Amino acid sequence: MKKIIRYGIVGTGIIAEAHANALRSAVNSKLVAVYDKDPERAGKFAQRHGGKVYNNYKEFLSDNEIDAVSIAVPSGLHMETAIPAAEAGKHILCEKPLDVSLVKAQAIIDACRKNNVQLSVVFQLRFGESVQKIKKALDLKLFGRIVLVSMQLKWFRTQEYYDTASWRGTWELGGGGVLMTQAIHDLDLMLYLNGFPSEVTAYASTMTHTGIEVEDNAAAVIRWPDGALGVIEASTSCAPGFPRRLEISGEKGSVIMEDGKITRWKLAAISENNTAETAKNESLSGGSSNPSAISAGGHQQQFEDLSEAILTGKKLFLSGEDGLPSLRFLHGIYESAKRGIPVKFTG
Ligand SMILES: NC(=O)c1ccc[n+]([C@@H]2O[C@H](COP(=O)([O-])OP(=O)(O)OC[C@H]3O[C@@H](n4cnc5c(N)ncnc54)[C@H](O)[C@@H]3O)[C@@H](O)[C@H]2O)c1
Repeated sequence: MKKIIRYGIVGTGIIAEAHANALRSAVNSKLVAVYDKDPERAGKFAQRHGGKVYNNYKEFLSDNEIDAVSIAVPSGLHMETAIPAAEAGKHILCEKPLDVSLVKAQAIIDACRKNNVQLSVVFQLRFGESVQKIKKALDLKLFGRIVLVSMQLKWFRTQEYYDTASWRGTWELGGGGVLMTQAIHDLDLMLYLNGFPSEVTAYASTMTHTGIEVEDNAAAVIRWPDGALGVIEASTSCAPGFPRRLEISGEKGSVIMEDGKITRWKLAAISENNTAETAKNESLSGGSSNPSAISAGGHQQQFEDLSEAILTGKKLFLSGEDGLPSLRFLHGIYESAKRGIPVKFTG
């Protein structure tokens, strides 16, 4: 029986480096080919990481050695990259967001289902040990009724970051700015841990970068169906860039996580010594000031999860459908910011 899933990477830019590094360590996965519309980039990437180089997507997809592809092209090109891959029978690991609109994201899910291939979306922070500890505590209602949930992403990106990849500052290919590109991970965690909100009121602004259509700063307030309230602050203008932060506070306990590590964990009923939940914290994040500093550990778990699902038929930890809630929420945030009104989510 086959034991290794052979991957081709599509798009050999910044995050593809994490994909290749992850594939080097992932137990049941291997990099065998790369494709980028820029042949020079693909060639240099393959020199660093190995794999056959393709300059034609159709030829890449017809390579029978490739079992699965990881998609790391600009966000607004995910659907047009993923659908032909699904039709060629390739399983897919797709970078976040699944695409920039819910319609396009759903089209990827439908194509994968129709062609009987597995689809996983990258939200590598969900694999974090600290995230799973918090999830378990919430499931056990250890923090009691949750009253406040807040996230801060006070990051920094240079003007060059936007200038060197023109898709990043656009609605069509980026789908938004700091919220869609960076804070989507934190929003995904908020929804994963505390459920889908009922209402959001948001403000978004382009403050320190030029030549971009999208926001580099945003703030929002949220309400959940059970009455819990929340706050979002997201920026790529805050020099020099601090760790991302998520706080969940309940009537019986509260937790603070910074850059994937639990830094405070207090339960009202237990002594201070029992704050040992901070033990063995690993960081799956990074990237507060440097987009290349994102660790490959979470991506490794993503590849291993997908490979195992392909090999054994086990349920994916992160399916394609898991890419929809954050996207739906983000579109609500953008609608609120654009129209200057609270947006309610129904159904
Ligand atoms: N999971 C994470 O933490 C994380 C971090 C950064 C980026 N991302 C996501 O990864 C994706 C890529 O982001 P990036 O920062 O690496 O971008 P990038 O601009 O550095 O790289 C994109 C690459 O895709 C290539 N490309 C463009 N159009 C193509 C096409 N039609 N076919 C093949 N190749 C094409 C470009 O030449 C470039 O090499 C985005 O969707 C982004 O949201 C995820």
